[in-house]
Amino acid sequence: MNEELEDRLARVAALPKVELHMHFEGAAPPAFIRGLAKEKKVDLSGIFAPDGSYAYRDFWHFLEVYEAATSVLKTPRDFARLTRAILEQSAESGVVYSETFLSPDFCGGGDVGAWKEYLHAIREEAEACEREMGITLRGIVTCIRHFGPDKAKPIARCAAETAGDWIVGFGMGGDEKVGHQGDYAWAFDAAREAGLRLTTHAGEWGGAKSVREALTQLQGIERIGHGVQSIDDPALVEELAERGIVLEVCPGSNVTLGIWPKVAAHPIAKLRDAGVKVTVSTDDPPFFHATMTREFRDLSEAFGWQEDVFAQLNQTALAAAFCDDATRAEVAKRLG
Ligand code: HPA
Ligand code: ZN
Repeated sequence: MNEELEDRLARVAALPKVELHMHFEGAAPPAFIRGLAKEKKVDLSGIFAPDGSYAYRDFWHFLEVYEAATSVLKTPRDFARLTRAILEQSAESGVVYSETFLSPDFCGGGDVGAWKEYLHAIREEAEACEREMGITLRGIVTCIRHFGPDKAKPIARCAAETAGDWIVGFGMGGDEKVGHQGDYAWAFDAAREAGLRLTTHAGEWGGAKSVREALTQLQGIERIGHGVQSIDDPALVEELAERGIVLEVCPGSNVTLGIWPKVAAHPIAKLRDAGVKVTVSTDDPPFFHATMTREFRDLSEAFGWQEDVFAQLNQTALAAAFCDDATRAEVAKRLG
């Protein structure tokens, strides 16, 4: 690698970063999950590779491994410990503001009282980390698509009951190939009526048509998780740009899961050139061997992007963050 490129990558890596799309349990370091499994005497050896990383065959197997890893997270205290492990990891990458997907399914099974206890523990630890590390966390309550629309209703109730200055959004993850976005309209409507801002996973696996579905079958979607398969539908790309829909793009995740063979083949640059508001996130960092530093470096190397492009990506992300304006102003100071 020539010196000029190395210097650029080092400068880009050192920038502060804003991240909008990270699954809370999916960010759990494998050593953390292994440690909890040992404490609780649960045999999770089947989900780890010999080198200690998570092992899975494809996206659908990943979802199974994800749920198995999550099974050792049992108490609010476990989630508080995980909060610290995740924020240390993000802070190491220079992340100054992060939005994370939280699933009440894994925090008391959708019971509002239990969810409030888990949330209290997560928030308290996040606020301690903010004071120590200068990283702000906000939560987006997320229903899980392959659990079905009936399971999404109590999750939306959990979201509505805790909507405020910390739980700022509602979304949906999971298997995009199950059902239709509109099947979950009740949950999204309830969340929106409680004042929550909305995002949903589409266009990662379900094609451009799944992004259209998100925009036509749900009301008030402001951001799309991934959305990158929109590239196959030029009229949709134009519509996304015109409407200012923000894409939470996770290039490393897409490449690791084999949707594109390498970052240089990823459509993020084409979408950006077409005027779509793109942002950059890690999705499930240890599962995909991703860090925000690595995302920035890989994008700079693949597309020749200089620091100004990353500063712009950060500004787009901060403007699209679901936090209140006072928080946004505080984070803006950290971006310089
Ligand atoms: N995609 C969709 N659903 C998810 C993911 C993901 O990467 N991680 C956890 N749930
Ligand atoms: Zn995701």
